[in-house]
Amino acid sequence: MEMSDLPEIDLDSPDFHHGVERADASTAHLREGLGMARSQRGIELFTYDLSSALIKDQGYNIGMHRRLASMGMAPGPAFDMICNIMVNIEGDEHARMRKACMTFFTLRGAEKLRSDVRAWVDKWVQEGLDGEEFDFQAAIGRQLPSVVFCKLIGEPLEMAPIYAQLAEDIMKHAQPPQPGFAEIIEKAAIEAELRMRQVIKDRRARPGDDLVSHMLIAEKAGEVDEDDIFHLVVTVLIGSTDTTDAQLCLNLAALSDNPSQWQVLRQNPELVPTAVMELIRFKPGVWTLSRSPLQDTVYRGINLTPDDAIWPLVFSANRDPLAFADPSRLDVTRAAGKTPLNFGTGIHMCLGRMITLLEQQEVLSSLLTHWSEFEVTDSEFQGAMYSTVATRMTTRFVPDSRLLSR
Ligand code: HEM
Repeated sequence: MEMSDLPEIDLDSPDFHHGVERADASTAHLREGLGMARSQRGIELFTYDLSSALIKDQGYNIGMHRRLASMGMAPGPAFDMICNIMVNIEGDEHARMRKACMTFFTLRGAEKLRSDVRAWVDKWVQEGLDGEEFDFQAAIGRQLPSVVFCKLIGEPLEMAPIYAQLAEDIMKHAQPPQPGFAEIIEKAAIEAELRMRQVIKDRRARPGDDLVSHMLIAEKAGEVDEDDIFHLVVTVLIGSTDTTDAQLCLNLAALSDNPSQWQVLRQNPELVPTAVMELIRFKPGVWTLSRSPLQDTVYRGINLTPDDAIWPLVFSANRDPLAFADPSRLDVTRAAGKTPLNFGTGIHMCLGRMITLLEQQEVLSSLLTHWSEFEVTDSEFQGAMYSTVATRMTTRFVPDSRLLSR
């Protein structure tokens, strides 16, 4: 089979720029038959099974060299740094790093953050109760993940806005390519390297109960070296902030569109963990992952080289009726179904998923406690068909009357 035998989609079509619901409605028929289509950037995969199998296939990687080159970035310090972060390395080197940091990212490890996250979120939500409108993105979406990042690496929480900006700039490599992005990414990557190397130096002098100190113990045991620690910390910086920010805003957008589901949660707050899994399935911030073959290969009959890209579409996999019953319905009580593909699967599956899920649970719980109802009054998201960036999210809410009578 030739690439030209595949049905074609146009990523510039408005169908792909107005939320995952419209993107899915316009492509649902492509899950039938081959489950694949071609686009300007390569092969798009529409079914859960195809995407999940490709993400797990160790004959492929993210293809970061190709992605950065397509943005006009040339090999150099920034290019090398991004190509060496954990998610972009394979084989023994990756396995060694993953083993060394795994225990930090367990459910138990994540739970250590819960009381702090709860206190921060409650404070920010309560501060917003004075007004009628709440700038959710500024107060929580952007702030929480970067404050959590500071906590994770043992930095003062005041550093959060600096790290949020660095992460946002570097993450432009996961956006639709635009002129000027290469310069922004390069500048931020160089600053991130200086700052993270300093953080490692500081934790070496004064260890604490944080990820860097945890990795320095592994370094002493000869399991990793300083470059590994640096690349892990940068992975966490750029992988944990914009992604969580966008997902927090998308969760709220989904509940604003489905007020009956908000009311179900008000009556049954114990459903919050289930609801968060359903919300990320329903409106994933990461629309797609990407894969390129490590060497010339044949993918389902099509000849590919390492310069080719395949895009496992998370939004489409998460609405595949063979994986989730009645997938276009938001159902915060949904228990059955496969694991949404938001965090990938296989050897690179997101290490921070327990942490981001915990953040999302605490935000939802706090809002359910403080607001009886709400609606999103203004929102803007960018990055369709790649990774969502939330640029605005304002809500109008009615405070819970039980709080007013206290
Ligand atoms: C909504 C939030 C998040 C989403 C959607 C997300 C998504 C992902 C995905 C899809 C991957 C694998 C990429 C691939 O296979 O192509 C990944 C890897 C990773 N994520 Fe996350 N992530 C999130 C939050 C976090 C957080 C909060 C942390 C850390 C605190 C984190 C740390 C990591 C790390 C270290 C890896 C690399 C794992 C490896 O290569 O073995 N992520 N993430």
